[in-house]
Amino acid sequence: MSLASTPMLPILPAAMLQLITLCSIGVAATSYPDFQLLNVKQTLIGTKMFKPLKTSEFHQLPNVSESDHPGKWELKLVHRDKLSSNVTSTFHDHGRRFHERMKRDVKRVASLLRRLPSGGSHDGDAAYEVNDFGSGVVSGMAQGSGEYFVRIGVGSPPRSQYMVIDSGSDIVWVQCQHCNQCYRQSDPVFNPADSASFAGVSCGSSVCERIENSGCNAGRSCRYEVSYGDGSYTKGTLALETLTFGGTVVKNVAIGCGHINRGMFIGAAGLLGLGGGSMSLVGQLGGQTGGAFSYCLVSRGTDASGSLVFGRGAMPVGASWVPLLRNPRAPSFYYVGLSGLGVGGIRLAISEEIFRLNDLGYGGVVMDTGTAVTRFPTLAYNALRDAFILQTSNLPRASGVSIFDTCYNLSGFVSVRVPTVSFYFLGGPTLTLPARNFLIPIDEMAFCFAFASSGSELSIIGNIQQEGIQISFDGANGFVGFGPNVC
Ligand SMILES: *[C@@H]1O[C@H](CO)[C@@H](O)[C@H](O)[C@H]1NC(C)=O
Ligand SMILES: *[C@@H]1O[C@H](CO)[C@@H](O)[C@H](O)[C@H]1NC(C)=O
Ligand SMILES: *[C@@H]1O[C@H](CO)[C@@H](O)[C@H](O)[C@H]1NC(C)=O
Repeated sequence: MSLASTPMLPILPAAMLQLITLCSIGVAATSYPDFQLLNVKQTLIGTKMFKPLKTSEFHQLPNVSESDHPGKWELKLVHRDKLSSNVTSTFHDHGRRFHERMKRDVKRVASLLRRLPSGGSHDGDAAYEVNDFGSGVVSGMAQGSGEYFVRIGVGSPPRSQYMVIDSGSDIVWVQCQHCNQCYRQSDPVFNPADSASFAGVSCGSSVCERIENSGCNAGRSCRYEVSYGDGSYTKGTLALETLTFGGTVVKNVAIGCGHINRGMFIGAAGLLGLGGGSMSLVGQLGGQTGGAFSYCLVSRGTDASGSLVFGRGAMPVGASWVPLLRNPRAPSFYYVGLSGLGVGGIRLAISEEIFRLNDLGYGGVVMDTGTAVTRFPTLAYNALRDAFILQTSNLPRASGVSIFDTCYNLSGFVSVRVPTVSFYFLGGPTLTLPARNFLIPIDEMAFCFAFASSGSELSIIGNIQQEGIQISFDGANGFVGFGPNVC
């Protein structure tokens, strides 16, 4: 498959057309046939128009869309940047949001490297260090909690709560009264006393045993504790509770009722783990959804919202299916079998081995909603970048920004032709990314090539590269699907 980039050819003023023609001179289009158009001006306008909401306005966002299929239910997904408490929208803000996002991203990757088996064997070539680690900055989001929000109902009657979603977490938790220590959230903190369906779990129960780091409280209730490594954490007791997803009510979901929580979860009440383990929401829904869910991540800097859909009915017809790999040493994470990379339709001469998840659980390619920028082992990243630079020698360069070493000064361009970037998967499918998924605006001039080195043998497919592409997980059959819809 080639998930074509749907390059919309805009109607351009004649003077601007010249720029496009000019910028394609020098590119031997015959030897590198696969180019697409990046709409520079439209991207910048979209970025400028972007208006975040105040925390107090969160409730205005739509929470669900009516499902058109009985076998699925759908939630709206909102990117964290939409939920900024700063309402002004200027390029300065775009730049600030971008830099904050990159800071979170570096921390997220550092935490994945610690949690995954590859963590101990960095290749020593990470170009950037996490300097502010362990400093006073507390951001739970940076560590375990991802970048996207959904709104669900907790308890009976349901209380609306914002939750962050995380494809690499295996627990569902909300802040709970009585709070020994709670951070500020946008909705009132959930009170078990107001819910008819709340049922504590005893520490002898099998549910309790399935939770990592569980223990026993004085009253024999099951205690849980999740620490995200940067000073943020949630601690409390485990309970069975009813969750409401739009019109769908799910009873007896094991959730953490967090009485001691620390972290800046941007107003969210808690976290909805979507990982591959048995205690994540997906794991618990099991039979009801056949372990199937699908999401479409919103484009950053636009007002569109994405979606998160559960159920077999969410599995699209016509997607390209790639084997989902499991790492026994990291069961929460979704790995995919990547075999190669291509630029301009030409497959890079790098070994498949570089992406392999080996028998010890090292390496491999993780799909992660909480990481923004896709990371590859240094060797693969360098090959990708060098091929891209070679095929964009006609474009004016700009100096590197943040974690990016390959940036372009696209000031004055309406649109530019850029080579395609493709992921080749085991079994044959190829995912060709839309240009906006790999050349991203940093400021009014610079667009950067949005990949980086992982500094280890681990690869991570991040949310910038996943944006706008329907991504479906069929846990029961062990496949991840790309497309066919763009959204
Ligand atoms: C809003 O932005 C300003 C600077 O642009 C920053 O100093 C301030 O901390 C921000 N406020 C919040 C709540 O993020
Ligand atoms: C979703 O929105 C509808 C209407 O805006 C509201 O009635 C409902 O309570 C909301 N549900 C949740 C879980 O927030
Ligand atoms: C980017 O290009 C524009 C137009 O060619 C030029 O005026 C500007 O100085 C350049 N900026 C940088 C940072 O190179």
